[in-house]
Amino acid sequence: MDWDRLVEEALIVRERAHAPYSGYRVGAAILFEDGEVVTGCNVENRLPSLTVCAERVALATAVAAGLGQPVALVVATESRPPAAPCGLCLEMLSEFVEDLPILLVNTDGNREEVRLRQILTRRFTLPSH
Ligand code: THU
Repeated sequence: MDWDRLVEEALIVRERAHAPYSGYRVGAAILFEDGEVVTGCNVENRLPSLTVCAERVALATAVAAGLGQPVALVVATESRPPAAPCGLCLEMLSEFVEDLPILLVNTDGNREEVRLRQILTRRFTLPSH
């Protein structure tokens, strides 16, 4: 897996985060089967419950664009060590993909590779699914 392009895109989109309340910027870049890359940043709101995470912005954008299955995700933050996606984002990712390599990066250049199923060990399931 060549992560460099995705890392660059995640760091660039992170700069566009709308995060005036927390001051914490997140960038996400998702690679799809056809080579397409879709990015997202966190978008905060003065009503905190309206805030949307970077990963979910990217995923919703990809669904709207009609893209297929994600094949890799990069999440960029300033956290030390690099932060993983929150539980809500992991659940949303698991709607579209069984497992996924996820690279956590930070603005210091640190990288850590994890997998969706490793950090979401038991996803929510409905009785009929
Ligand atoms: N945030 C994300 O964008 N992704 C996550 O996985 C967790 C948190 C954002 C939401 C909010 O704007 C800020 O980080 C602080 O929680």
